[in-house]
Amino acid sequence: MLRPDSHVPAALPPAAVNDPADAQAQEAQADAASFQATLLEAAARPYRQAGRFAYYFGRGKLRSDPVFHSILALGLLSGRKRILDLGCGQGLLASWLQAAARCDDAGTWPRAWPPAPRPQSLRGIEMMARDVARAQVALRPPCEVIQADIRKASFGAVDAVVILDVLHYMAVPLQCDVLRRVREALPRGGLLLLRVGNAASGLRFRITQWTDTMIMLARGHGLVRTHCRSVAQWRELLEGCGFDSRAVPMSQGTPFANVLLIAHAR
Ligand SMILES: C[S@@+](CC[C@H](N)C(=O)[O-])C[C@H]1O[C@@H](n2cnc3c(N)ncnc32)[C@H](O)[C@@H]1O
Repeated sequence: MLRPDSHVPAALPPAAVNDPADAQAQEAQADAASFQATLLEAAARPYRQAGRFAYYFGRGKLRSDPVFHSILALGLLSGRKRILDLGCGQGLLASWLQAAARCDDAGTWPRAWPPAPRPQSLRGIEMMARDVARAQVALRPPCEVIQADIRKASFGAVDAVVILDVLHYMAVPLQCDVLRRVREALPRGGLLLLRVGNAASGLRFRITQWTDTMIMLARGHGLVRTHCRSVAQWRELLEGCGFDSRAVPMSQGTPFANVLLIAHAR
């Protein structure tokens, strides 16, 4: 029986409202929302010790940026043992993966998702001292963040490399050099997740660039020149550096023109 204050429209036949399939779908949705909230809080909470900005910025980014959810829901890093995150900021990806493993331990991992990533090491490299300090307060082994410039830092030997919204800050020859060194750090079949803005996507790309400029100013980088490409040009660059790639849109729910390139070392 529907309560008089129910939000279900009066015209809807009662049979549809009481449909067990509907009820199941609603329950599944509620479970998914509850899991997302638990995961988000588990990933953001360690940043409380690093200050209000670190916590609220981290929480906001993890909630609104679709790449974090997609990495888990699509199983992009499942089974990868040694992960390197270049230009990792305050280490949000590492905290996200640690939170995912804790949810898995607690038995709340969604059955429909691929296995939670359980890296033996996750190393972030970031050049901004403030971000590195926040990451070092929040993260625990096997995750670590070191302060270095990815144009010069050694990448070691890893199974997966993640570069989210970083490469366009460096000049074209340096982009090639970083990608070649990433290829050398990976075995054949090794994974590179490279997120970029698609310079061919008109207004959405201009919004992406404008937001990027504002964020870099706010983070104390000053006015930074960017070196952007269309998705086709990024894929061509990857091809030349020894990667096969495919592109997945990665700005759902945002006004941006971001694309995740999922690339495998040949
Ligand atoms: C837009 S933020 C993205 C942060 C992180 N990848 C994320 O998605 O949360 C770009 C980051 O790349 C870092 N970065 C840019 N150039 C770098 C370089 N040459 N070496 C190390 N870090 C760099 C910046 O300091 C900044 O933290």
